Amino acid sequence: MKLRSVLLALLAVGAIGGMGALLYAWESPIAPIDPRSARATDTVMVRRGASLALLGDCATCHTATGGAPYAGGLAMPTPFGTIYSTNITPDPETGIGRWSEQAFVRALRSGVDREGRHLYPAFPYDHFTRVTNDDANALYAFLMSLDPVRSSAPPNGLPFPLNIRLTLAGWKLLFLRQERFVADPSKDAKWNRGKYLVDGLGHCGACHSPRNLMGAEEISASFQGGVAEGWRAYALGRSSPSPVPWDEAALTDYLARGSHPQHGTAQGPMANVTDNLSLVDPADVSAMAYYLASLGKGEARTSAKIPVPKGPGRLPQVAGAQAATLPLQSDPGGAIYGVACASCHEGGRPLPLGGVSLGLSTALADETPANLINLVLRGIPASSDGSARPIMSGFGDVLGDRQISDLANYLRTQLAGKTRWDGVAKAVADARANR
Ligand code: HEC
Ligand code: HEC
Ligand code: HEC
Repeated sequence: MKLRSVLLALLAVGAIGGMGALLYAWESPIAPIDPRSARATDTVMVRRGASLALLGDCATCHTATGGAPYAGGLAMPTPFGTIYSTNITPDPETGIGRWSEQAFVRALRSGVDREGRHLYPAFPYDHFTRVTNDDANALYAFLMSLDPVRSSAPPNGLPFPLNIRLTLAGWKLLFLRQERFVADPSKDAKWNRGKYLVDGLGHCGACHSPRNLMGAEEISASFQGGVAEGWRAYALGRSSPSPVPWDEAALTDYLARGSHPQHGTAQGPMANVTDNLSLVDPADVSAMAYYLASLGKGEARTSAKIPVPKGPGRLPQVAGAQAATLPLQSDPGGAIYGVACASCHEGGRPLPLGGVSLGLSTALADETPANLINLVLRGIPASSDGSARPIMSGFGDVLGDRQISDLANYLRTQLAGKTRWDGVAKAVADARANR
């Protein structure tokens, strides 16, 4: 009898808890609008929204390879399965043409679509939740000013139970802190602007911070380094492994132009970020650099032996001239470096067409060889629009896995002066499988 009443009580508590959870998880639909009513007229606001969209990388995620900008359909691989970005052009059937401003702002901040369904955090609303009303409204005005494109994203490839959007309510309860940005009055306006952009629209931590097993950012380890699409997004600030510590001037240059003579160029997913930042108000980029620089510097790890390129103005040297002067190494990795890499990386040609001395590259100093291996396998392809971009041949077809491992060990120990990485062979195999 006693046991029965305990069980009943437990059941009752469970039922109330379940109902509470459902109530919490429930989000109401927001009524559709007449698509024509939202067409923006305020051109100043639209222009501001366009710049904010670049800061938020909206088109980078919401454009499929070769597809119309903002029309969605880009496959985003996550550790849990593939998620497709959606169409955010104002098409009434397949895009957000029937979304009111209120519905859009709710999506940006709470990760809920117009019909009340929870959205996956592959959409970085855990950052966008900090965006101000004014900025959210400008983004809406900009998106509504685009030409509508008819296009639907393929269904997501997620396993049960993750394919049930209601489960996201639990994730949000645990990990989503819905709060607007609050300025720190003890800091100046530039610092606050920079922090607002870095933590909010710029969602820098989405790649540069580690994530837990449930895919949420570890707030206590902000900017300690993370992973993005098979690339390492290095630690920033005090934990930065960069051989030359980053300062405000270097960060400003790198973010605005995608390269810096002592740090090399932005690669992989970071290249999209700097492409976008090259088009926004330089004052915003400079504010981000100012804030990031305030997070502290890593330790200097350059040895005096590393030649620091002086930048443009140096006489270009003939490719191969340097390589010929390097004695052929007995170390198999060193021999490959001398023949395949030194002509460009010790040629003394300035960026973007020369390569940095590899002893300066964070790729050699970081805790994993992932980015070095990606670069050696794929190289850096020429830009599709004919602009002057660095080019590096890929070596995936000419070097075997063993040779790439030897090369990585040589670069790590001889040029970066560090102990060997663990698991280089596995990292090479993984990177090839991902290519
Ligand atoms: C890192 C990739 C990424 C970035 C950056 C990104 N989005 Fe998204 N967004 C997504 C994905 C993926 C979804 C779909 C999520 C889902 O299906 O649950 C999405 C969904 C949305 C939705 C909901 C649309 C719908 O039909 O349900 C809106 C609105 C949206 N994004 C707007 C934006 C805006 C505005 C920006 C820039 C400020 C932006 N996104 C930047 C990945 C991204
Ligand atoms: C045809 C010239 C060329 C050759 C050959 C070449 N590279 Fe590069 N490499 C470049 C250029 C240009 C860049 C972009 C500028 C930069 O970031 O250093 C680059 C970038 C890199 C980077 C990224 C540096 C950074 O942090 O920005 C690494 C690592 C790298 N190369 C490694 C190698 C290795 C290893 C080899 C030999 C297997 C090699 N490269 C051969 C031209 C070359
Ligand atoms: C989509 C993922 C992604 C986002 C978003 C992103 N980064 Fe990166 N970032 C990377 C990756 C990957 C690298 C390493 C690739 C490289 O160095 O070429 C990188 C490299 C960097 C570096 C160079 C570090 C070093 O030591 O070489 C800096 C600085 C940087 N990011 C700053 C930022 C800032 C600031 C933001 C936000 C405005 C940002 N990143 C947003 C992925 C990202």
